[in-house]
Formats: sequence, structure tokens, C-alpha cells
Amino acid sequence: MILVTGGAGYIGSHTVLSLKEKGEEVIVFDNFCKGHRDLVFGDHLVEGDLNDLACLSELFRRWPITQVVHFAAFSLVGESADNPQKYYQNNVNGTLNLLSAMKDAHVKDLVFSSTAAVYGQVEQMPITEDCPLRPSNVYGKTKRVIEDLLDDWCRAYGLRAVTLRYFNAAGADPQCRTGEDHRPETHLIPLVLDVALGRQKEVTVFGRDYSTPDGTCLRDYIHVCDLAEAHVLSLKRLSNEAEGFRMALNLGTGKGYSVLQICEAARQITEREITIQSGPRRVGDPAVLVASSEKARNELGWQPQFDSVQHIVATAWQWHQKRFV
Ligand code: UFG
Repeated sequence: MILVTGGAGYIGSHTVLSLKEKGEEVIVFDNFCKGHRDLVFGDHLVEGDLNDLACLSELFRRWPITQVVHFAAFSLVGESADNPQKYYQNNVNGTLNLLSAMKDAHVKDLVFSSTAAVYGQVEQMPITEDCPLRPSNVYGKTKRVIEDLLDDWCRAYGLRAVTLRYFNAAGADPQCRTGEDHRPETHLIPLVLDVALGRQKEVTVFGRDYSTPDGTCLRDYIHVCDLAEAHVLSLKRLSNEAEGFRMALNLGTGKGYSVLQICEAARQITEREITIQSGPRRVGDPAVLVASSEKARNELGWQPQFDSVQHIVATAWQWHQKRFV
């Protein structure tokens, strides 16, 4: 049985669906402060909080959990700067509790949800896993601290861990069973689709004076179903490894799209006008973030299937209309 913390969230719910499609039995653990009750696709649900160690211990006592995928975390960059305690408490302390409960229950396999934010501002593109980790915001720092923790747990206690560093997760389940629904929403693609739907009047482009071809930031948008598949492959890999195994992998497509290119793709797919206004740069936004995912391809045999921004926007649009009309 596979435990998915944060399994009612965006990437979590897609991963649960992928695991179910592979015939796995899945238990979702979520406190629903960000996740959605109607997006739980596991066989079992335990409502609980990672800060509640007694609840976690009971979870591992009660269910025959063999592997864990850990998503549950706060992920708003701006909020993390204003309230670091909330972020360290939930992300770092929550993970410590999870590791402690896993250790007591002798559960060894963990796939951990990390982020490109652990790299911070990087000169070399594409970003490889050996680039130094110099996060420029508190959210990214909490993820780096956890990555350090995992190194120590693997070495000392025989934990086996794969850390997946996502670039820009986007898109939705092509069958429209789940998709992106953050409240508040801060991500570019759903905000642009809000304009297409008439939920927002316009989208603000954060900075048009970057040294990129059209002056707006380039990001590596990776389809959420491809991310989900990488978790399934990572779990499979872990079950074949010796105790103490540890690996970090980037997940992206290797291609960068600008903010204006995303707006244009949304215009084409939705066949609606997207009104744009220009705003100042957002603090801490690097000009370009593009992943090298060679390592994930080589180590896991991972092959992104939804390798076009049009497909990403099209699936997101299908979901957006279903969810928000
Ligand atoms: N953007 C706009 N206007 C908006 C929202 C975003 O112009 O209203 C721009 C941003 O400046 C950025 C791009 O669109 O250039 C993408 O922004 P997102 O907020 O969608 O995504 P980020 O690249 O900022 O964030 C993602 C993840 C974070 C992670 C970060 C760094 O969502 O969790 O990458 O890896 F921390």
C-alpha cells in the first residue's frame, strides 16, 4: 500500500490516479487546508495533519504502508517571505514527523516533492542536478533543508529516497478528473485562463525588460501527468535499491516558454481574447529557468508524453471550464 501525503492536491491527485491505473492500493493523507475533498481518488482517506505525530504513528500502525510519496507542503513564494515560521513549521517539521513515523514503522521508501526553487538564480542553462542549491526564497529554503535531512536519514537509517525537483507544473488530466485549483491562484496558466473565462479582466505580465527574446521570463512548463508518471517510476526504482539509496532528479522538458508565448498559446487554444497589462518585475523571479532532465530520463526511463505547451494549455483549459464555469 502506498501512502500519498497531500494526495488531494494538484500534483498529488494526478499521482494518485497514475498509481491507481498501475493497480496500486493507495491511501491519501491530507488535512484539506489546500487539497479538495472531491479530488481524492485513493482507496482510503485519512484526514490528518503532518504536525500531529500521534496521528502519523497511528496511520503507520493501522495500515500496511510499504512506500510513501510526500507532497503535503505550503508552496507560495510570497507568503513564505512574509511568514517563514508557517513554512518551516509545516514543511520541515511536518517532514520530520513523517520521517520519524516511517522510521518507527520500518518503512524505507520515500519519493519527495521538491522544486526548481532550490536552485535559486542560476547562470548555467539548462540546470543540471549538480548545480549549487542556493534558494532565493523561504519556500525553496524549506525544500533544501528537507533535501539535506533526507541525505542524513538515508546515510544513518537506511532510508531510500528519490527527490523530484519540479519545474513549472501545468496542465490537467486529459480525462478531466482533476486539475489545478489553488486558492488563491498565483500561477500563470490558470490566471491566463481566468481571463479567457471572464473571471478576471486581464493578466499582468511581471516585467518586460528581461534579457530574453521578448523581454518576459522563460519557464520550463511540464505536464502534471508526466510529473505523476515520474513518481510511479521512482517508486518502482526504489523497490530495487539497497538501503541508503539517494537520488535527486530534475523534472522538466528542457524547453523554455516566455510569458507572452503562454498568453499567445492560450489565445489560440481558447479562441478568446487575453487582455494583458504590463507590470513591474516580481521580486525574486529569475529571467530563465529551464531544466536538464537527462538524468531522470536515464535513471528512470522517464519520457514526457505531453511535450508541447499547446497540449498543456489545452488540457488546463478543458479542466478550467469544467471546474470554474
Ligand atoms: N507571471 C506573470 N504574471 C502572473 C503570474 C506569473 O507574468 O500573474 C510570470 C512569472 O513572473 C513567471 C512565470 O509567469 O515568469 C511563471 O510564474 P508562476 O507563478 O506560474 O511560476 P513560477 O515560475 O514563479 O513558480 C514555479 C513554481 C513554484 C516554484 C518556482 C521556482 O510554481 O512553486 O517555479 O521553481 F517555487
